[in-house]
Amino acid sequence: MERFIIEESGPLRGRVRISGSKNSVLPIIAATLLTDEECIIHDVPLLTDVLTMQNLIEDLGGRASWDNDANLAIRVSDIKKIQASYELCAKMRASFLVAGPILARMGEVKISLPGGCAIGSRPVDLHLKGLAALGAEISQEHGYVSARAKKLVGANIYLDFPSVGATENIMMAAALAEGQTIIQNCAVEPEIVDLSNFLTSMGAQIRGSGTDTIRIQGVNKLSGTNHNVIPDRIEAGTFMVAAAISRGEIFLENVVTDHLKPAIAKLREVGVEIEESEEGLNVKSGSLRRPIDIKTLPYPGFPTDMQAQFVAFLATTPGTNLVTETVFENRFMHVPELVRMGADIKIDSRSAIIEGVEKLAGTQVKASDLRAGAALMLAALTAAGTTEIHDIYHIDRGYYRFDQKLRQLGGKITRVNG
Ligand code: UD1
Repeated sequence: MERFIIEESGPLRGRVRISGSKNSVLPIIAATLLTDEECIIHDVPLLTDVLTMQNLIEDLGGRASWDNDANLAIRVSDIKKIQASYELCAKMRASFLVAGPILARMGEVKISLPGGCAIGSRPVDLHLKGLAALGAEISQEHGYVSARAKKLVGANIYLDFPSVGATENIMMAAALAEGQTIIQNCAVEPEIVDLSNFLTSMGAQIRGSGTDTIRIQGVNKLSGTNHNVIPDRIEAGTFMVAAAISRGEIFLENVVTDHLKPAIAKLREVGVEIEESEEGLNVKSGSLRRPIDIKTLPYPGFPTDMQAQFVAFLATTPGTNLVTETVFENRFMHVPELVRMGADIKIDSRSAIIEGVEKLAGTQVKASDLRAGAALMLAALTAAGTTEIHDIYHIDRGYYRFDQKLRQLGGKITRVNG
């Protein structure tokens, strides 16, 4: 098992290029199942989660090849089976995104229900509600969901919660359904817009993505395409926090500033200086002036995927900060680890009350999930002495060469085996 050994590193400084978005590319890879022609996806981050999705596509009969470790060509001439592999689905919740495309192309799909997950129960009821509304007959047994429909037919679907994954699954299935589908109270995340652009470039007819009502006019056939993935807003936000927590200065290249509004606003509120330009974003730790309150919400609210990194940062800023998690019910697994590093944080129901301390202290800690792992890395860079982070495979699932990028900025990080 690999782990990171991290020494207190002082202010991080330099430039970093943000990779393509993990959360965009996973549904986009799933969408390649909708056509028998080749799709080429550019700026794909070579991550464990991306490889899992690629393996899933290959297991279903698709062919995939990488060029330059960044461009992924996929062709699914035939879908050879309608059952998605349990082993691959169990590795990653986003595997469930193949359900809509397989159903739309084959009229049938069987897929294992996602298991329990470190950050809450994360059901798929909204995905299934949407597919059922499109005419699929859904049954569940022995941990698997089966969906069947001779023909999917467009429908009006209202989501009880603007779930990102449910919006994506329904959008993909509806792209090949007969007639019009309207998804109301859908997710408005930039990754939804990216998937919609990908589908549109394949010939799908979609209007309204990025708003809370998406209209999809089904077509008979989709074709191959070329697509550039949007920059990863969560990776960008993480490096912004890296500049702030280390009291350094980092220039971020390849960012869409608009996608980063909540993180920019909150960092400015604390006193971090952020300058936007055509080339990117300059983030410089100013004098940190006051505590803040944060509440995670669906986009354009503050992203739950940035919560852990901000908790780590606020653990070392003066005053009493309040962070409330509303999207997932159990997403403070990083808090006990930060407390072991000397942070003063109390959990009260869905909120973390954080009293900023002067300095954290290095010790052994464990990454419980992807963003919790990133938060511990950032905390470790500023903690006195040495920190050892275990279970770092979580970090490799979603951050492209995170340790390498941090090292280039001055982070003292060693990856060791065993
Ligand atoms: C996606 C992101 C993840 C991010 C999350 C919220 C990907 C691959 N992952 O996950 O990084 O943290 O959005 O921004 O894009 N829910 C239900 N029923 C459902 C579906 C969801 O109750 O059928 C609940 C979940 O339990 C959770 C909330 O809705 O509490 C948000 O989930 P959702 O938006 O679906 O997140 P994901 O698509 O899984």
